[in-house]
Amino acid sequence: MTDKSAQILSTEEFVREKIKGYDSGHDWWHIDRVRKLALYINETELLEDPFKVEITSLLHDIADSKFAGDNIENGYSMISDFMDKVGMSEIKDHVINVIKNISFSNKKKSVNQDDPLLQVVQDADRLDAIGAIGIARAFNYCGFRNNPIYLPGYESGNTGKSAIGHFYDKLLKLKEMINTATGRKIAEERHVVLERFLEQFYSEWYFVKDKR
Ligand code: ADP
Ligand code: NI
Repeated sequence: MTDKSAQILSTEEFVREKIKGYDSGHDWWHIDRVRKLALYINETELLEDPFKVEITSLLHDIADSKFAGDNIENGYSMISDFMDKVGMSEIKDHVINVIKNISFSNKKKSVNQDDPLLQVVQDADRLDAIGAIGIARAFNYCGFRNNPIYLPGYESGNTGKSAIGHFYDKLLKLKEMINTATGRKIAEERHVVLERFLEQFYSEWYFVKDKR
């Protein structure tokens, strides 16, 4: 086994352990899909060292407040210690910086937005939030939080906390936020799935017109 494949295996093990017990929208399979999609986008566009892409994808959600508790810095130092331990000190700063930027994508921009490593992993993460899987994850999240599937009257603009509201708050906007050409193509297909779903959802919800 090469050093790199052993490091990938150790990272998988570390991640599986850390995410145990969280909502299934954040289970191992989300991480695995992001890893595969990021590698695919990277390969198509030949942007970065695939090893770095794979490690960053595997670690991208670990320092998230959902997993690391309130103290997100603990999450980063946990990653840092792990990377030192398995001989990845050399790429550590770059990987952690990119992960920070993915979690704070809408807030603090702390690294170069043109960094290919950031662009590829961020695209993969965003693509997993749209399309059929994105829809499943949104409803799963609402189940986990005990939020309603839909609040009538909140279909646009100020959307409240329902799963359908989340489409307007976030999911329908993601297509425009994709960094790479390969990612954009995939996003366009998945965006149509969101639109079709909404159309069908409303046609069922309002199937019988309310006469009261
Ligand atoms: P990630 O960290 O993987 O980018 P998030 O932690 O933001 O994603 O969310 C995990 C999943 O739950 C995503 O698919 C996202 O769309 C969904 N989600 C997040 N917040 C909400 C919400 N308020 N209502 C419904 N779904 C949500
Ligand atoms: Ni993620």
